[in-house]
Amino acid sequence: MRKLSSRTEFVKPTFQTSVNLDGYINIGSGTPNFSPPESVIQAFKESIDRRQLSYTSWSGLNTLKEAISRKLLKENKFLADPSAEILVTSGAQPAIFSIFLSILDEEDEVIIPAPYYSTYEEIAKICGAKVIPIKTDTSSNFTFIFEDFEKALSDKTKLVVLVSPSNPTGTVLSKGLIDKVYDKLKMLDITLITDEIYEHYIYDDHQHYSLMSEHAEKENIISIYSLSKGYGLTGIRVGYIVSNKNTIATIAPFHHAMNICAPVNAQYASIEALNLNREWFEVEMKNVIAARQMWMECLDQLSLPYGIPQGAYYICFDISQCQKPAHQVSKDLRSDHQLIINSVDDKYLRGSFMQDLDVLKSGLNRFKSYLR
Ligand SMILES: Cc1ncc(COP(=O)(O)O)c(C=O)c1O
Repeated sequence: MRKLSSRTEFVKPTFQTSVNLDGYINIGSGTPNFSPPESVIQAFKESIDRRQLSYTSWSGLNTLKEAISRKLLKENKFLADPSAEILVTSGAQPAIFSIFLSILDEEDEVIIPAPYYSTYEEIAKICGAKVIPIKTDTSSNFTFIFEDFEKALSDKTKLVVLVSPSNPTGTVLSKGLIDKVYDKLKMLDITLITDEIYEHYIYDDHQHYSLMSEHAEKENIISIYSLSKGYGLTGIRVGYIVSNKNTIATIAPFHHAMNICAPVNAQYASIEALNLNREWFEVEMKNVIAARQMWMECLDQLSLPYGIPQGAYYICFDISQCQKPAHQVSKDLRSDHQLIINSVDDKYLRGSFMQDLDVLKSGLNRFKSYLR
């Protein structure tokens, strides 16, 4: 066996749950179970028919960046210059990679409220940096308190990441808390990353807040968006980074080194997706809201503590009463019950609302019989 990099110690193959697997019921998937309107698919096809098969500008097609800029003004309530402040990437995943590579050095620290999306830790480690978690639990719906954030700060802190709405916890952070964190970081000249890729999934009276709506100068802020979740387009691989001109210019060569540009046909489909009004999405949300309700009722019946999902399409629940690590519970469910529910860490499992209601019902019944 050839020698491998030490990174293979912490970037390991895992069981993929984001695709449909024959014979399994998947109630843990991060993939929307719907597609956007037909015109988006048409736009994709037509760009192929026009033989648009070449690289685009590294930062993305101008028409796409203009559509993104209009969307940001309409939905997120801030101005972004399409010619300098937007970088189109092949989804949010490589966006995180390019940003981390352009900012982090060995030994640097990245603060993230935990439980968090594991990719953040993997990429931090690849950069030789370390994640400092702010611990949260179900008692506060996984929201952290400002004092715990302050305690996590050190002279090695280079980045803070806030994912709101959150994968895996479903937490939507309040405007007051985000503002307070940002004010502190601005004083210390530390960058805040806001991952807003679940911005379209909000429940009850919660509200999604984009920090740039009050800081159009975008100093010390980098925001990440994606077409994956809110448009049912995980497979076309388009996302975008928004920041000030200098920061975008710094990140762009890393994006180029990795992808050159996002896939051209996917960019054309994205223009159509962004230009549509979002009435079509309200229909899809009905199923998502009903699935959320079904999950909460099931966990209530089982007396398993969970954070009430305020956004995204996940429910994070405490499985410690099984007296086994959550990853073992997840593995047992898969092998003995052909049921897929992801583990988050030792204590928590993550359920998803992206499933037809009758399938979800059968899946939850399998889960109940496992617990019995
Ligand atoms: C919080 C978070 N950020 C980024 C990503 C990556 O998304 P994309 O499909 O846009 O690469 C995911 C995917 O699940 C996610 O949950």
